[in-house]
Amino acid sequence: MERVKTTVSVIKADIGSVAGHVVVHPDTIAAATRVLAEAKAKGVIADFYVTNAGDDLELIMTHRKGADSPEVHEVAWTAFQEAAKVSRELGLYAAGQDLLSEAFSGNVRGLGPSVAEMEFVERPSEPIAVFMADKTEPGAFNLPMFRVFADPFNTAGLVIDPKLHTGFKFEVYDVFEGRSVVLNAPDEMYDILALIGTPARFIVRRVYRRIDGEIAAAVSVERLSLIAGRYVGKDDPVAVVRVQAGFPAMGEVLEAFAFPHLVAGWMRGSHHGPLMPVPQRYAKCTRFDGPPRLVGLGFQVKNSRLIGPVDLFDDPAFDETRRTAQLVADYMRRHGPFMPHRLGPEEMEYTTLPEVLEKLKERFTKVEGAPRAAEPRIKTELLSRESKEGD
Ligand code: F6R
Ligand code: MG
Ligand code: MG
Repeated sequence: MERVKTTVSVIKADIGSVAGHVVVHPDTIAAATRVLAEAKAKGVIADFYVTNAGDDLELIMTHRKGADSPEVHEVAWTAFQEAAKVSRELGLYAAGQDLLSEAFSGNVRGLGPSVAEMEFVERPSEPIAVFMADKTEPGAFNLPMFRVFADPFNTAGLVIDPKLHTGFKFEVYDVFEGRSVVLNAPDEMYDILALIGTPARFIVRRVYRRIDGEIAAAVSVERLSLIAGRYVGKDDPVAVVRVQAGFPAMGEVLEAFAFPHLVAGWMRGSHHGPLMPVPQRYAKCTRFDGPPRLVGLGFQVKNSRLIGPVDLFDDPAFDETRRTAQLVADYMRRHGPFMPHRLGPEEMEYTTLPEVLEKLKERFTKVEGAPRAAEPRIKTELLSRESKEGD
């Protein structure tokens, strides 16, 4: 007999916020809650928790319909539409921003919202962590996911616990080509790093335990500007991680966020800044629209019900991380409009900067006798997006 599987679906969208891109309004949370409560009463979903990370409305849902369920995605889409309606009534800023399409077509992927989903047979006790970031992009999870599932200096269990000792499989997704590759840690960890060190392009999408193929983590990979072809806000990502009893402990997962690493996002989605883990009450981006923030909620999943949450970063143990993040924020800000605070030209392609540069194009004149830059010596498909067309 097949055992019952529970699906955890975390789906988010920025449908408008108060006082600029700062924080979600409680009435939009209430509107989304009404839709999800109705879906729960009808038995479409088993349970839910609605919250926010800065200006992003976050729907955490459990059900038994598997990942990419049209029914569940439609519930999420309706919740965002209803919340966006309230957002427009209240004149909230950027109302409906992430809802790129008018019509739902069976799946929210590609329509604007970001999605992290995983299906599993519940263990007798099933603790999970849900991570929600604001003012950054999905690749922001690459470094912590690597540290959690492949770095024994972060995760003691990789050395000590036989279930973790055989390692984890990383599914790495190429957002530009829409394809993915599965690589094994620890054997192929240098290959994993060779890809995910480019977080704007290669994203850790899922992680599986090698000993039995059990899913361990799922991360959203949607990049809004690539879908819309223009800048429509950053692609603030979400992730779900299973913890304890043969997976990394909750503390090992959280440990990976004790280093406030630099991520892309922040002001106008165009700057590098530290990812600062915060309690839910500080999930609002203020200074220079940031710095990028991360909220973590812990739950137990029992018979597809959500027990919790626990506000995971509401702990003085993360005070020093936050202090370091402030120092790094100060240091980076002093670069003003210069790289590497401002993102590099490849990433700026998807912002409003090209419009500004366009008008200078005609004013450039050729300098006689000036040498042209040589073609790059190493040009591989994985490094250069243009290589296929350009060669
Ligand atoms: C970042 C973000 C904000 C805006 C910025 C300018 O993801 O959404 O930093 O880019 O506040 O917004 P507009 O152009 O709407 O005034
Ligand atoms: Mg916004
Ligand atoms: Mg946001």
